[in-house]
Parts: sequence; C-alpha cells; structure tokens
Amino acid sequence: RSNSRKSLGLSKPDQRFHQTSTQGPESPRFCLPACSPRRPACFRLSRTETVVVSENEKVRVPRHVAIIMDGNGRWARERGLARVEGHAEGARAVRDAVETAARIGVEYLTLYAFSVANWARPRGEVEALMRLLVDFAKKERSELRSLGIRVNVIGALEDLPTGTRHAVEDLIRYTADGEKMTLTLALSYGGRQDIVEAARALAVRARAGLVLPEEIDESFFHREMTTRTLPDVDLLIRTGGESRLSDFLLYEAAYAELVFLPIMWPDFKPTTLLESVELFSRKERRFGRTSDQVVRGEAAAFDPLDPAE
Ligand code: FPP
Repeated sequence: RSNSRKSLGLSKPDQRFHQTSTQGPESPRFCLPACSPRRPACFRLSRTETVVVSENEKVRVPRHVAIIMDGNGRWARERGLARVEGHAEGARAVRDAVETAARIGVEYLTLYAFSVANWARPRGEVEALMRLLVDFAKKERSELRSLGIRVNVIGALEDLPTGTRHAVEDLIRYTADGEKMTLTLALSYGGRQDIVEAARALAVRARAGLVLPEEIDESFFHREMTTRTLPDVDLLIRTGGESRLSDFLLYEAAYAELVFLPIMWPDFKPTTLLESVELFSRKERRFGRTSDQVVRGEAAAFDPLDPAE
C-alpha cells in the first residue's frame, strides 16, 4: 500500500439535499467527523492513506453499510491463480474495508461472507473459506477490539464446522464491548431462509396463543429474524459486476441505496468505500414521498427498522 493523500474531489454541495434530508444530514452521525467550514476535512482511511474532503463539504455517512463481496474467483483466474487465492486476497480487502468503515463513522457494516447457497461449492473451496474465517478471527481480534468493533453473526452459525464456529464465537465474545461499530458476518446466511424461519417461529407462538396475529407488524416480525439487532440497510454495495441481491438482506434492504461496482472484491480499496459513500450522500431518500414533500420536510409513512428505537 502506498502512502497517499487523495482528494475525493467532491464538487458543489447539493443545497437542496442539505436542506431536506430525512435523516438529519447536519447531525454529527451523518457527517464525516472532521468536516468543518473552516477546516478542510482530512480522513485517515487506514494507517497509510488519507483522504481530503474539500472545504464546506458535508458527506452523509450511511449508518448501515452492507456489502456483497463478489469476484474473488474471477480476480484469481485473471491472474492464473487458484480460486482460493482470490478468497485469501479478498480476506485482506475485508480487513481494510472494516477498518475504513469504522474510521469514517459507519455504525453497522454487514458482510456477505458465506451464503447458504455457497455450501454447494467444491469441498476444497468451502474448506478454504472456513480456514480463512478462522485466520481472520484469530489474527484480527486484537485490532478489532482496539478499534472498538464488535463482531456479530447473522445466518446459521451452528451449520459451520466446529473449529470455525468456535473461532467465530470466540471473536464475538472477545469483541463484545466494542461500541464504535458492529461488524456483522453473514455466515450460512440466506435472506429467504431468515424470513421463512421468522414466519415459522411466529406461527408456533401464535398456535400456542402467545402472539395475536394483529400484533404482528414489520418491527415485530423483524424481532424474529437473525438480523433483529440491526437497523435497516442504508447503502448496499456489490462488487463483481453483477446487479443482483443474491438472497442478501431481502427484508432489511427494502429502502437501501444500491451501488453495483464493476471491480472484483480483492480490488476494493478504502477509497472505493469512500466513493460509494459519496454516491450515497448525493441521493435524495424519499421513502415513498415526492421530492416536494421531502423539501417541505414532511414525515414519511415509512418507519425504518431500528431496533434501538
Ligand atoms: C464471492 O466471490 C465471494 C465469496 C463467496 C466469499 C467471500 C469471502 C471472502 C471475501 C473472504 C473471507 C471472508 C472473511 C470475512 C474473512 P466468488 O468466489 O463467487 O467470485 P466469482 O464470482 O468471481 O467466482
């Protein structure tokens, strides 16, 4: 990694956006912390890279970023390497993405590390992915804890091989006090499966007379899902050139801004995350309202899923 200072080149601020955001762009949570009219914002993306955001510029940082990390296999093939080499390089990109997200003030980062459909991959590849998870859990735990990052899992952790499961459980325990960012690993995860299992759990409770059908609304339903502690996804990024969700966070990404990138996951750099955040920042989030209603500051009927509220 080279020691570089890059300008994001943010051009004219979108005045309308600044006046009308539904989620308080002026609130510190959504501004890059170093932004100030008198001081060009300077961000340390990692130990070696700094990004300069122009004066007077405000960038909203999404609260919850979710990433589909696609393209490891193609990255490896283009270099004449084995697919697992692509995953290993992908794991290095994970480290940088996590650190960058925490530094810029993302509160929740959710990574699609292993889908329920990925069990169908060749055994050697599945085993390599499980080993990479163990390596990640062991090698990164101190760094994660020192950055205040708490690790969480969605999906079926119990489906993982015992060694991997124990390493991940240990990582969850070791980082449990982190308050800066929640890093959620989606493991043996399927969005439809999560919805169906929540429905089944509610049906069982309803049959036992513990839940009334009229009690079940969106947030009640969400409390049955493995994503129950996560708020709605604000920004969903997919690398690898495909424009699909592949069963990721189907319920939680209902109002997410989607960013599809042509680059392969191992080429994802701290600046790639910043550029995606900048794209997000320029969007007007209407949540069903017209643009005029947003400008007038009228409330949305839509109630984002937020377990904290
Ligand atoms: C999809 O790319 C990627 C995966 C199924 C695995 C993602 C895993 C990592 C990034 C590394 C390990 C994760 C952690 C959290 C340490 P693909 O293999 O389908 O790529 P392709 O479409 O080019 O074949």
